[in-house]
Amino acid sequence: MRILVVNGPNLNLLGERRPEIYGTATLAELEQSCRQWGAALGLEVETFQSNHEGAIIDRLHDARGRCDAVVLNPGALAHYSYALHDAVEAIALPVVEVHLSDITAREEWRARSVVSPACAATITGRGADGYREALALLARRDQASAR
Ligand code: DQA
Repeated sequence: MRILVVNGPNLNLLGERRPEIYGTATLAELEQSCRQWGAALGLEVETFQSNHEGAIIDRLHDARGRCDAVVLNPGALAHYSYALHDAVEAIALPVVEVHLSDITAREEWRARSVVSPACAATITGRGADGYREALALLARRDQASAR
């Protein structure tokens, strides 16, 4: 099973951006952890980060037929990008949305994700571990469907 892990705007600054909220691990470290967690679950993980909505949508489209599922931290796009919602819906792959922080416990405008309704699951507020949980969930789904 091949999984695409996508990180959206400003997540390239992980490690230096609000470490009290997002933790001290850099994006490179997080992506490396995802590859390791994935390998332990028998998953092949590829990673992508962009600050550009269109580039993220293009990469999701590109995952069709190449990847089996997606882990997506949309960053702030979660709160307003209907285009990203529609892309998630359009690719017809299971997408697990992840947020490092608990978006429901911060500013009011952050509490809602417009992308969530198109996702198979949403995991928030678990830090980097949320990515591990998302990968585990997708691995379990795959096993269940193979049975
Ligand atoms: C985030 C939460 C978003 O509200 C924020 O804009 C981010 C990171 C998170 O991982 O907690 O960039 O997606």
